[in-house]
Amino acid sequence: MPATELDQVVNLCKRRGYVFPSAEIYGGFRSTYDYGPLGAMMLRNVKDAWVRAMVQLRDDVVLLDAAILGPPAVWEASGHLANFTDPLVDCRVCKNRFRLDKLDDPNTCPSCGAQDSFTEARAFNLMFKTHAGPVEDAGAVAYLRPETAQGMFVNFANVLNATRKKPPFGIAQTGKSFRNEITPQNWIFRTREFEQMELEFFVPPAESAQWYAYWCAERLGWYVGLGIPKELLRLRAHDADELSHYSSGTSDVEFLFPWGWDELEGIANRGDYDLTQHANHSGEKLDYFDQATGERYVPHVIEPAAGATRTLAAFLLAAYDEDEVGGESRVVLRLHPRLAPYKVAVLPLSKKEHLSAKAREVYRLVADRYLSDYDDTQSIGRRYRRQDEIGTPLAVTVDFDSLDDEAVTVRDRDTTEQVRVPIADLLATLQAKLGF
Ligand code: GAP
Repeated sequence: MPATELDQVVNLCKRRGYVFPSAEIYGGFRSTYDYGPLGAMMLRNVKDAWVRAMVQLRDDVVLLDAAILGPPAVWEASGHLANFTDPLVDCRVCKNRFRLDKLDDPNTCPSCGAQDSFTEARAFNLMFKTHAGPVEDAGAVAYLRPETAQGMFVNFANVLNATRKKPPFGIAQTGKSFRNEITPQNWIFRTREFEQMELEFFVPPAESAQWYAYWCAERLGWYVGLGIPKELLRLRAHDADELSHYSSGTSDVEFLFPWGWDELEGIANRGDYDLTQHANHSGEKLDYFDQATGERYVPHVIEPAAGATRTLAAFLLAAYDEDEVGGESRVVLRLHPRLAPYKVAVLPLSKKEHLSAKAREVYRLVADRYLSDYDDTQSIGRRYRRQDEIGTPLAVTVDFDSLDDEAVTVRDRDTTEQVRVPIADLLATLQAKLGF
């Protein structure tokens, strides 16, 4: 069963090295987090799985890695300087600060209970401002990107010229984004520094409705394909008053978090807003000339915009399970093999030297293909429990018989079933079980 309490997964992640509070030895730093040895690998796997689906397995999307720092001109054109704000109120009694739109009751302070104690709402811009270069004057102002999207719009003509793609085609990007969130919350769900995975898919205007529907279905299917049960996912269309300043239609992929349904990804029909804005502000042509029809047009954009770090939280919460094996309770992360940090653990039954040599040989064979762990500490039972708890799909046990029969035992995390396999067939067996 998926985690019902956030703490079950937060504690496991801290203990096993998935996610640590940032700068913890100094008391932590304002809802920022560091991804530990397992978390760093899983985050890469989440992004790789996204790039695989969005770029590798199709021929109409290319990858980009744009700068994080950008000049004000980009954010003026995108509308972020004017519109990327949250309404902020302060409680005059306890001095705490809240987002007005997130308050259950706009007259009651959720912190101290005071009535009608809020100041007038102020628009608070969420972008982090800094200075590029040694002089901190107005001419040196730069912003950390609050989304990866704009790097793809400003490179539209570059990508078009470099790749000779024609609509419908997309530009995909993963990477860090920064928002000075007033109320970061729920662990890595909403943080000030996070990672996104965004696709800008440029289409002929007449095809935008059809591509919007296509991407909604495609993106929901991505989460299911990576192991999140269907009943923990839903697609929710935004009401008109929820739409962003650029969007003519948005649907969210939502996940049933322990605190209720919440957003994993937004799929927006952005029309020609972004390319038109950047063309007007930069003076560059950002359109497409279709030689076949002789028509020049500004493509419309369908944007599936997901969060890599937020999605990682959802994958972990969905994978969390507790069951009983041989009368003993265990915690198991039933992560999809593509997402699991280690695919295989190689476990020698004993630390004795002649067995270690064989086990190291098996480890080298396996690790060349799959990211693998080698563990020869403690009893074999405890090592299985540890690998179950960190989500390793397969364990390969090297025992004393292995020295004679050149075979090992492969144990499945989910069923705990074990099969004896000749070392010569090991890679083929692992591939069949993992699916890649
Ligand atoms: N380009 C459109 C865009 O950025 P968004 O809905 O603001 O849209 C897309 O962000 C996704 O990025 C969200 O669905 C969420 O998964 C992730 N995201 C946004 N803000 C976040 C935050 N403060 N912390 C973690 N993830 C965040």
